[in-house]
Amino acid sequence: MPDTTSVSALGAPAERREGPAKVTGAARYAAEHTPDGCAYAWPVPATVARGEITALDDTAALALPGVIDVLSHLNAPRLVEPEDATLAVLQGTRVPHRGWYVALVVAETLEAAREGAAAVEVTYAEEPHDVTLTADHADAYVPEDTDGTSGEHVRGDAEEAFSAAPAQVDVVYRVPPLHNHPMEPHAATAYWEDGRLTVYDSSQGATTVRDVLADMFALPKERITVVSEHVGGGFGSKGTPRPHVVLAAMAARMTGRPVKLALPRRQLATVVGHRSPTLQRVRLGARPDGTLVSVIHEVASYTSRVKEFVETAAAATRVMYPSPHARTTHRVVPLDVPSPSWMRAPGEAPGMYVLESAMDELAVRLGIDPVELRLCNDTRTEPDSSKPFSSRHLVECLREGARRFGWSARDPRPRSRAEGPVLIGSGVASATYPAFAAPSHASAHAYPDGSFLVRVNATDIGTGARTVLAQVAADALGVPVERVRADVGSSDLPNAPLAGGSSGTASWGWAVHEACKRLAERLSGQQGQQLPPEGVGATADTAGTADAESEYARHAFGAHFAEVGVDMVTGEVRVRRLLGVYAAGRILNARTARSQFVGAMTMGLGMALTEHSTLDKAFGDFAESDLASYHVPAHADVPAIEAHWIEEEDPHLNPMGSKGIGEIGIVGTAAAIGNAVHHATGVRLRELPLTPDRVL
Ligand code: MOS
Repeated sequence: MPDTTSVSALGAPAERREGPAKVTGAARYAAEHTPDGCAYAWPVPATVARGEITALDDTAALALPGVIDVLSHLNAPRLVEPEDATLAVLQGTRVPHRGWYVALVVAETLEAAREGAAAVEVTYAEEPHDVTLTADHADAYVPEDTDGTSGEHVRGDAEEAFSAAPAQVDVVYRVPPLHNHPMEPHAATAYWEDGRLTVYDSSQGATTVRDVLADMFALPKERITVVSEHVGGGFGSKGTPRPHVVLAAMAARMTGRPVKLALPRRQLATVVGHRSPTLQRVRLGARPDGTLVSVIHEVASYTSRVKEFVETAAAATRVMYPSPHARTTHRVVPLDVPSPSWMRAPGEAPGMYVLESAMDELAVRLGIDPVELRLCNDTRTEPDSSKPFSSRHLVECLREGARRFGWSARDPRPRSRAEGPVLIGSGVASATYPAFAAPSHASAHAYPDGSFLVRVNATDIGTGARTVLAQVAADALGVPVERVRADVGSSDLPNAPLAGGSSGTASWGWAVHEACKRLAERLSGQQGQQLPPEGVGATADTAGTADAESEYARHAFGAHFAEVGVDMVTGEVRVRRLLGVYAAGRILNARTARSQFVGAMTMGLGMALTEHSTLDKAFGDFAESDLASYHVPAHADVPAIEAHWIEEEDPHLNPMGSKGIGEIGIVGTAAAIGNAVHHATGVRLRELPLTPDRVL
């Protein structure tokens, strides 16, 4: 292993600290904790798409050897109604969608629990269901715009300006339902001891899990500990508590045993959230030189009957290009579908796929180079809010990407390059993602032996959070990083927001930085004195700073370039090259940052070429429920991806000067690939993914 002990500077490519524990199997994930006497649970999903439970017979299940108990609405503890209605499991007879949990079997072994689940007999009064999203659905409504990303925003008279524009693009695109499918399925191991609840949960934010369980079980927060020490990915699906953690806690309380519940992969598609499909119409009006005069982006997505979720696909259009006239509209249709939720770059990923595809269509229409079209529509102020950008280096990303990619050698004519039956093309797309930060707490301690400890309930979802937080602390303290330990992943640590919205490092790092600065001050006042054996500490709470309304619009930007080969015999699209250049503030760890970018671009490649899910109209649930049918990219699908960034100094963010990097990599990737397919073939495909049946 390379020697990294000398790596101390913020930005250095420090290796992730838990790496050896993970590759040797020493790292314990939520389902790998097996307390003494642990029992195993298996859920029973509803087998109708909408209706009411009229009878539930658990006699046969209870008679099976090893089955301990069957939980259902008949006997499960009544919980305080949660704000998130997807967590109100086994509380009533209503079935809002197929796959909704109606029972949970607890047994001595996993096998007995699974057998028991199959033996539970549930009778339903079935009702007609509707799971079909259409843009003109009678129940469609414009949702309330609570945070600026939803609802409808209007500038000027977009329709009028579009009609009068010399160049027009008016296109409709469709993005199918997509699933997060983290490598580690959702899992929780729960036990009660002396009125205290301890849960090992696979979550992106254990503080919220703890708080929600406290509310639902009417317990003081101090009597609950939620541990999420290692998490095998979440991509948004673990961003808030999911039903499994409530079920595990309920089952442990009812049986008096520790209970382990790992959701079967085949149930994930239905119960942990997914990306809603979107139907999107974009109209771009431009002058002959490419200057936009009107932008209209209309999005239809669905939500479940359980709770409202809006896939805010038009939000990024409010950020990207200036235009005197614009309208961005979200419409939501409540259907009898599984509840959609966050999936990596919720809103931005499907929305920018469509906006950036439409921009390519406009470039082709006008005979303008697609990089140039974006350069000539740059702006220093955010179009929607008129706020100045704290920093925006989209132009630099496009230029640097074009240089590295060899864009100037490109013949703009479609079908201009071929190798045998393989048509070769290249495409470009812009990317953006907001720079969020949420209030966090952290503490920092100094010990007599010269070591330091920072504590914050951050979650490392595979990103290297502990490593970068140690770097942030070392930088703030002015000490070598190997003298700093970072404790994360337990709700007993200082409260912190989730690893989501690309905001984790900014939020936790801010608090860690503040705590370390305070600690450094205390230490400088004690110079020359021996520290007490228990050390010296300081805490910080960034509420009021991290959350402050900024006078600046804060977003990361990027540019994606793709080269594809389209086999005109088989219809197969292969990505031959993929390159991203990002402007995301200061990059705090070059190694883990690159990994984030490449991972997200890989996910964008899957979105472009293979990933899709089908809501069966009659069945009312997804046809693709495992990794044999829902195709995420395999190694053979992924070329050597290049991720680069430009040095961006932005004083209006946080003490580290960083923007989030977890999501922007997926944002423009699918459009760059789709635009490359058009360049290769001359055919514009407006529905993802670009599978052979569509290409041929
Ligand atoms: Mo991510 S979808 O913000 O967890």
